[in-house]
Amino acid sequence: MEDVTDLAFRLVCKRQGADMVYTEFVSSEGLIRDIREAVGKLKILDEERPIGIQIYGNRVASMVQAAKIAEAAGPDILDINFGCPSKHVAGSGAGSGLLKTPELMEEITRAVVNAVNIPVTAKTRLGWCDSEITIVEIAKMLESCGIQALTVHGRTRTQKFKGQANWELIGEAKKAVKIPVIGNGDVVSPQDAQKMLQVAGVDAVMIGRGSYGNPWIFKQTKHFLQTGESLALPELDERVEVLLEHLALSILYKGERRGIIEMGKHYGNYFHGVRNVKYLKAHLRELKSYDQIASAIRVFIADFRKSEAMPAAAEVLSV
Ligand SMILES: Cc1cc2nc3c(=O)[nH]c(=O)nc-3n(C[C@H](O)[C@H](O)[C@H](O)COP(=O)(O)O)c2cc1C
Repeated sequence: MEDVTDLAFRLVCKRQGADMVYTEFVSSEGLIRDIREAVGKLKILDEERPIGIQIYGNRVASMVQAAKIAEAAGPDILDINFGCPSKHVAGSGAGSGLLKTPELMEEITRAVVNAVNIPVTAKTRLGWCDSEITIVEIAKMLESCGIQALTVHGRTRTQKFKGQANWELIGEAKKAVKIPVIGNGDVVSPQDAQKMLQVAGVDAVMIGRGSYGNPWIFKQTKHFLQTGESLALPELDERVEVLLEHLALSILYKGERRGIIEMGKHYGNYFHGVRNVKYLKAHLRELKSYDQIASAIRVFIADFRKSEAMPAAAEVLSV
Protein backbone atom coordinates (compact mmCIF):
# COMPACT_ATOMS: atom_id res chain seq x y z
CA MET A 1 0.00 0.00 0.00
CA GLU A 2 1.43 3.29 -1.10
CA ASP A 3 3.08 5.25 1.74
CA VAL A 4 2.16 2.50 4.20
CA THR A 5 3.82 -0.83 3.41
CA ASP A 6 7.38 0.40 3.26
CA LEU A 7 10.17 -1.92 4.36
CA ALA A 8 9.79 -0.99 8.05
CA PHE A 9 6.06 -1.70 8.24
CA ARG A 10 6.37 -4.87 6.18
CA LEU A 11 8.96 -6.19 8.63
CA VAL A 12 6.70 -5.36 11.55
CA CYS A 13 3.76 -7.17 9.88
CA LYS A 14 5.94 -10.14 9.03
CA ARG A 15 7.18 -10.40 12.61
CA GLN A 16 3.55 -10.25 13.75
CA GLY A 17 2.51 -13.17 11.58
CA ALA A 18 1.80 -11.98 8.01
CA ASP A 19 2.43 -14.94 5.68
CA MET A 20 3.06 -12.83 2.62
CA VAL A 21 3.78 -9.16 2.10
CA TYR A 22 3.92 -6.83 -0.90
CA THR A 23 5.79 -3.64 -1.60
CA GLU A 24 3.98 -0.40 -2.27
CA PHE A 25 3.12 -0.20 -5.95
CA VAL A 26 6.05 1.03 -7.99
CA SER A 27 5.71 3.14 -11.12
CA SER A 28 7.06 1.41 -14.23
CA GLU A 29 7.84 4.78 -15.77
CA GLY A 30 9.76 5.74 -12.62
CA LEU A 31 11.72 2.49 -12.64
CA ILE A 32 12.80 2.68 -16.26
CA ARG A 33 13.97 6.26 -15.72
CA ASP A 34 15.88 5.23 -12.63
CA ILE A 35 13.92 7.69 -10.46
CA ARG A 36 15.22 7.40 -6.91
CA GLU A 37 11.80 7.19 -5.25
CA ALA A 38 10.71 4.29 -7.47
CA VAL A 39 13.99 2.39 -7.28
CA GLY A 40 14.07 2.83 -3.49
CA LYS A 41 10.81 0.90 -3.20
CA LEU A 42 12.49 -2.21 -4.62
CA LYS A 43 14.58 -2.76 -1.51
CA ILE A 44 13.54 -6.03 0.09
CA LEU A 45 15.09 -8.32 2.70
CA ASP A 46 15.24 -12.10 3.01
CA GLU A 47 13.37 -11.84 6.30
CA GLU A 48 10.31 -10.69 4.35
CA ARG A 49 10.03 -13.74 2.11
CA PRO A 50 7.79 -14.63 0.46
CA ILE A 51 7.46 -11.10 -0.85
CA GLY A 52 5.90 -9.62 -3.97
CA ILE A 53 7.02 -6.46 -5.71
CA GLN A 54 4.08 -4.71 -7.31
CA ILE A 55 4.41 -2.54 -10.43
CA TYR A 56 1.95 -0.45 -12.38
CA GLY A 57 1.80 1.35 -15.69
CA ASN A 58 -0.09 1.58 -18.95
CA ARG A 59 2.63 1.07 -21.57
CA VAL A 60 3.64 -2.42 -22.61
CA ALA A 61 7.30 -1.62 -23.26
CA SER A 62 7.70 0.24 -19.96
CA MET A 63 6.00 -2.54 -18.01
CA VAL A 64 8.26 -5.17 -19.59
CA GLN A 65 11.39 -3.20 -18.81
CA ALA A 66 10.16 -2.40 -15.29
CA ALA A 67 9.28 -6.06 -14.70
CA LYS A 68 12.87 -7.06 -15.48
CA ILE A 69 14.24 -4.36 -13.19
CA ALA A 70 11.90 -5.48 -10.41
CA GLU A 71 12.81 -9.15 -10.97
CA ALA A 72 16.49 -8.29 -10.55
CA ALA A 73 15.69 -7.03 -7.03
CA GLY A 74 14.96 -10.66 -6.11
CA PRO A 75 11.27 -10.87 -5.11
CA ASP A 76 9.47 -14.20 -4.95
CA ILE A 77 6.69 -12.93 -7.17
CA LEU A 78 5.94 -9.95 -9.36
CA ASP A 79 2.47 -8.48 -8.94
CA ILE A 80 0.77 -6.17 -11.43
CA ASN A 81 -1.54 -3.47 -10.12
CA PHE A 82 -4.79 -3.28 -12.07
CA GLY A 83 -6.69 -1.88 -9.10
CA CYS A 84 -5.53 1.59 -8.13
CA PRO A 85 -8.51 3.96 -8.49
CA SER A 86 -6.71 7.29 -8.05
CA LYS A 87 -7.17 10.02 -10.61
CA HIS A 88 -3.45 10.20 -11.14
CA VAL A 89 -3.10 6.47 -11.90
CA ALA A 90 -6.49 5.22 -13.18
CA GLY A 91 -7.13 8.56 -14.87
CA SER A 92 -4.02 8.05 -16.96
CA GLY A 93 -5.12 4.55 -17.98
CA ALA A 94 -3.00 2.54 -15.52
CA GLY A 95 -4.13 0.62 -12.40
CA SER A 96 -7.90 0.15 -12.47
CA GLY A 97 -7.98 2.38 -15.57
CA LEU A 98 -7.02 -0.77 -17.48
CA LEU A 99 -10.44 -2.24 -16.63
CA LYS A 100 -11.65 0.14 -19.35
CA THR A 101 -9.16 -1.27 -21.87
CA PRO A 102 -9.05 -5.04 -21.26
CA GLU A 103 -7.17 -5.63 -24.55
CA LEU A 104 -4.31 -3.49 -23.29
CA MET A 105 -4.50 -5.17 -19.87
CA GLU A 106 -4.13 -8.49 -21.66
CA GLU A 107 -1.24 -7.29 -23.78
CA ILE A 108 0.62 -5.93 -20.75
CA THR A 109 0.01 -9.10 -18.76
CA ARG A 110 1.18 -11.47 -21.51
CA ALA A 111 4.26 -9.38 -22.14
CA VAL A 112 5.19 -9.19 -18.44
CA VAL A 113 4.61 -12.92 -17.90
CA ASN A 114 6.90 -13.65 -20.85
CA ALA A 115 9.53 -11.17 -19.73
CA VAL A 116 10.38 -12.64 -16.33
CA ASN A 117 11.21 -16.02 -14.82
CA ILE A 118 9.34 -15.59 -11.53
CA PRO A 119 5.60 -16.09 -11.00
CA VAL A 120 3.50 -13.11 -12.04
CA THR A 121 0.28 -12.32 -10.18
CA ALA A 122 -2.24 -9.50 -10.48
CA LYS A 123 -4.55 -7.46 -8.29
CA THR A 124 -7.71 -5.87 -9.58
CA ARG A 125 -11.25 -4.77 -8.75
CA LEU A 126 -14.74 -6.05 -9.61
CA GLY A 127 -15.01 -3.79 -12.63
CA TRP A 128 -15.19 -0.14 -13.56
CA CYS A 129 -18.60 0.61 -12.03
CA ASP A 130 -21.77 -1.13 -10.87
CA SER A 131 -23.08 -1.44 -14.42
CA GLU A 132 -19.73 -2.82 -15.63
CA ILE A 133 -18.90 -5.74 -13.34
CA THR A 134 -16.36 -7.56 -15.48
CA ILE A 135 -14.36 -9.49 -12.91
CA VAL A 136 -15.30 -12.95 -14.19
CA GLU A 137 -14.13 -12.22 -17.74
CA ILE A 138 -11.08 -10.35 -16.45
CA ALA A 139 -10.12 -13.23 -14.15
CA LYS A 140 -10.39 -15.76 -16.99
CA MET A 141 -8.42 -13.53 -19.32
CA LEU A 142 -5.64 -12.99 -16.77
CA GLU A 143 -5.48 -16.72 -16.06
CA SER A 144 -5.14 -17.41 -19.78
CA CYS A 145 -2.19 -14.97 -19.87
CA GLY A 146 -0.30 -17.09 -17.33
CA ILE A 147 -1.05 -15.17 -14.15
CA GLN A 148 -0.45 -17.52 -11.22
CA ALA A 149 -2.73 -15.95 -8.62
CA LEU A 150 -5.25 -13.14 -8.61
CA THR A 151 -6.18 -10.76 -5.82
CA VAL A 152 -9.66 -9.27 -6.09
CA HIS A 153 -10.63 -6.17 -4.13
CA GLY A 154 -14.42 -6.41 -3.90
CA ARG A 155 -15.15 -2.87 -5.06
CA THR A 156 -15.42 -1.13 -8.41
CA ARG A 157 -13.18 1.67 -9.55
CA THR A 158 -16.03 4.15 -9.17
CA GLN A 159 -16.50 3.12 -5.56
CA LYS A 160 -12.86 3.80 -4.79
CA PHE A 161 -12.86 3.00 -1.05
CA LYS A 162 -16.51 3.85 -0.35
CA GLY A 163 -19.39 1.51 0.38
CA GLN A 164 -18.80 -2.11 1.26
CA ALA A 165 -16.68 -4.68 -0.50
CA ASN A 166 -18.83 -7.30 -2.22
CA TRP A 167 -17.44 -10.68 -1.19
CA GLU A 168 -20.05 -12.64 -3.17
CA LEU A 169 -18.73 -11.17 -6.40
CA ILE A 170 -15.19 -12.07 -5.37
CA GLY A 171 -16.59 -15.60 -5.05
CA GLU A 172 -17.84 -15.47 -8.66
CA ALA A 173 -14.29 -14.78 -9.79
CA LYS A 174 -12.99 -17.61 -7.62
CA LYS A 175 -15.42 -20.06 -9.20
CA ALA A 176 -14.46 -18.99 -12.71
CA VAL A 177 -10.73 -19.83 -12.54
CA LYS A 178 -8.36 -22.55 -11.36
CA ILE A 179 -5.57 -20.29 -10.11
CA PRO A 180 -5.58 -19.25 -6.43
CA VAL A 181 -7.78 -16.24 -5.74
CA ILE A 182 -7.01 -13.92 -2.84
CA GLY A 183 -9.97 -11.99 -1.45
CA ASN A 184 -9.53 -8.39 -0.35
CA GLY A 185 -11.62 -5.59 1.06
CA ASP A 186 -12.94 -4.71 4.53
CA VAL A 187 -11.31 -7.52 6.48
CA VAL A 188 -10.58 -5.82 9.80
CA SER A 189 -10.86 -8.73 12.23
CA PRO A 190 -10.16 -12.48 12.37
CA GLN A 191 -13.92 -13.06 12.22
CA ASP A 192 -14.12 -11.05 8.99
CA ALA A 193 -11.36 -13.19 7.50
CA GLN A 194 -13.25 -16.36 8.37
CA LYS A 195 -16.43 -14.93 6.90
CA MET A 196 -14.71 -13.91 3.69
CA LEU A 197 -13.22 -17.40 3.32
CA GLN A 198 -16.73 -18.84 3.74
CA VAL A 199 -18.63 -16.36 1.58
CA ALA A 200 -16.15 -16.00 -1.27
CA GLY A 201 -14.51 -19.43 -0.99
CA VAL A 202 -11.16 -17.78 -1.68
CA ASP A 203 -7.78 -19.40 -1.15
CA ALA A 204 -6.38 -16.59 0.98
CA VAL A 205 -7.33 -13.26 2.47
CA MET A 206 -5.42 -10.01 2.04
CA ILE A 207 -5.61 -7.46 4.84
CA GLY A 208 -4.85 -3.82 4.11
CA ARG A 209 -6.22 -1.02 6.29
CA GLY A 210 -7.06 -3.45 9.07
CA SER A 211 -3.34 -3.69 9.80
CA TYR A 212 -2.82 0.03 10.40
CA GLY A 213 -1.35 0.32 13.88
CA ASN A 214 -2.62 -3.23 14.31
CA PRO A 215 -0.03 -5.60 12.83
CA TRP A 216 -0.97 -8.37 15.29
CA ILE A 217 -4.13 -8.84 13.24
CA PHE A 218 -2.16 -11.39 11.21
CA LYS A 219 -1.23 -13.55 14.20
CA GLN A 220 -4.70 -13.14 15.68
CA THR A 221 -6.36 -14.14 12.42
CA LYS A 222 -4.23 -17.23 11.89
CA HIS A 223 -4.80 -18.29 15.50
CA PHE A 224 -8.55 -17.78 15.18
CA LEU A 225 -8.75 -19.71 11.91
CA GLN A 226 -6.76 -22.59 13.36
CA THR A 227 -8.37 -22.82 16.80
CA GLY A 228 -11.57 -20.75 16.83
CA GLU A 229 -10.14 -18.83 19.82
CA SER A 230 -9.83 -15.05 19.82
CA LEU A 231 -6.51 -13.68 21.06
CA ALA A 232 -6.84 -10.46 23.04
CA LEU A 233 -5.31 -7.24 21.75
CA PRO A 234 -1.80 -7.04 23.22
CA GLU A 235 -1.41 -4.92 26.34
CA LEU A 236 -0.57 -1.28 25.81
CA ASP A 237 3.08 -1.84 26.81
CA GLU A 238 3.52 -4.46 24.12
CA ARG A 239 1.81 -2.24 21.55
CA VAL A 240 4.22 0.56 22.46
CA GLU A 241 7.21 -1.78 22.05
CA VAL A 242 6.01 -2.74 18.55
CA LEU A 243 5.45 0.92 17.69
CA LEU A 244 9.00 1.73 18.82
CA GLU A 245 10.35 -1.20 16.80
CA HIS A 246 8.48 0.23 13.79
CA LEU A 247 10.01 3.66 14.46
CA ALA A 248 13.51 2.20 14.82
CA LEU A 249 13.15 0.33 11.51
CA SER A 250 11.78 3.42 9.81
CA ILE A 251 14.84 5.38 10.95
CA LEU A 252 17.18 2.53 10.00
CA TYR A 253 15.93 2.36 6.42
CA LYS A 254 14.98 5.99 5.75
CA GLY A 255 17.35 7.95 7.94
CA GLU A 256 16.46 9.79 11.14
CA ARG A 257 14.74 12.83 9.66
CA ARG A 258 12.61 11.09 7.04
CA GLY A 259 12.04 7.99 9.13
CA ILE A 260 10.59 10.11 11.95
CA ILE A 261 8.46 12.26 9.65
CA GLU A 262 6.99 9.20 7.92
CA MET A 263 6.14 7.54 11.24
CA GLY A 264 3.89 10.50 12.04
CA LYS A 265 0.93 8.94 10.26
CA HIS A 266 1.17 5.69 12.25
CA TYR A 267 1.13 6.92 15.87
CA GLY A 268 -2.62 7.52 16.14
CA ASN A 269 -3.38 4.04 14.83
CA TYR A 270 -1.21 2.33 17.44
CA PHE A 271 -2.97 4.25 20.21
CA HIS A 272 -6.47 3.63 18.97
CA GLY A 273 -8.86 3.93 21.92
CA VAL A 274 -6.34 5.66 24.22
CA ARG A 275 -7.60 8.96 25.64
CA ASN A 276 -5.95 12.28 24.81
CA VAL A 277 -3.66 10.78 22.22
CA LYS A 278 -4.04 13.86 20.04
CA TYR A 279 -1.87 15.80 22.53
CA LEU A 280 0.79 13.14 22.35
CA LYS A 281 0.69 13.17 18.54
CA ALA A 282 1.08 16.95 18.46
CA HIS A 283 4.03 16.73 20.87
CA LEU A 284 5.72 13.91 18.93
CA ARG A 285 5.63 16.02 15.79
CA GLU A 286 8.11 18.41 17.43
CA LEU A 287 10.63 15.73 18.40
CA LYS A 288 13.64 14.90 16.30
CA SER A 289 15.22 11.75 17.68
CA TYR A 290 14.25 8.18 18.56
CA ASP A 291 15.22 8.69 22.22
CA GLN A 292 13.09 11.82 22.59
CA ILE A 293 10.09 10.11 21.02
CA ALA A 294 10.48 6.90 23.02
CA SER A 295 10.72 8.80 26.29
CA ALA A 296 7.74 11.07 25.45
CA ILE A 297 5.62 8.01 24.67
CA ARG A 298 6.67 6.26 27.88
CA VAL A 299 5.85 9.34 29.97
CA PHE A 300 2.46 9.61 28.24
CA ILE A 301 1.70 5.94 28.92
CA ALA A 302 2.72 6.26 32.58
CA ASP A 303 0.40 9.29 32.95
CA PHE A 304 -2.37 7.44 31.15
CA ARG A 305 -2.00 4.52 33.57
CA LYS A 306 -2.14 6.84 36.57
CA SER A 307 -5.30 8.47 35.23
CA GLU A 308 -6.82 5.01 34.64
CA ALA A 309 -6.02 4.03 38.23
CA MET A 310 -7.63 7.19 39.64
CA PRO A 311 -11.35 7.04 40.39
CA ALA A 312 -13.44 9.03 37.94
CA ALA A 313 -14.81 12.38 39.23
CA ALA A 314 -18.32 10.97 39.49
CA GLU A 315 -17.14 8.14 41.73
CA VAL A 316 -15.30 10.58 44.03
CA LEU A 317 -18.40 12.71 44.39
CA SER A 318 -20.58 9.77 45.27
CA VAL A 319 -18.37 8.62 48.16
C1 LIG B 1 -3.37 4.48 1.47
C2 LIG B 1 -3.62 3.30 0.57
C3 LIG B 1 -2.63 2.90 -0.30
C4 LIG B 1 -2.84 1.80 -1.13
N1 LIG B 1 -1.85 1.40 -1.98
C5 LIG B 1 -2.01 0.28 -2.72
C6 LIG B 1 -0.95 -0.21 -3.54
O1 LIG B 1 0.14 0.37 -3.62
N2 LIG B 1 -1.18 -1.35 -4.24
C7 LIG B 1 -2.36 -2.03 -4.16
O2 LIG B 1 -2.51 -3.08 -4.79
N3 LIG B 1 -3.37 -1.58 -3.42
C8 LIG B 1 -3.22 -0.46 -2.69
N4 LIG B 1 -4.24 -0.02 -1.90
C9 LIG B 1 -5.49 -0.80 -1.84
C10 LIG B 1 -5.42 -1.84 -0.72
O3 LIG B 1 -4.38 -2.75 -0.96
C11 LIG B 1 -6.72 -2.63 -0.61
O4 LIG B 1 -7.00 -3.21 -1.85
C12 LIG B 1 -7.90 -1.78 -0.18
O5 LIG B 1 -7.55 -0.86 0.82
C13 LIG B 1 -9.04 -2.67 0.33
O6 LIG B 1 -8.59 -3.57 1.31
P1 LIG B 1 -8.71 -3.27 2.91
O7 LIG B 1 -10.16 -3.01 3.19
O8 LIG B 1 -8.18 -4.50 3.56
O9 LIG B 1 -7.88 -2.05 3.16
C14 LIG B 1 -4.07 1.10 -1.09
C15 LIG B 1 -5.07 1.52 -0.22
C16 LIG B 1 -4.87 2.61 0.61
C17 LIG B 1 -5.97 3.04 1.54
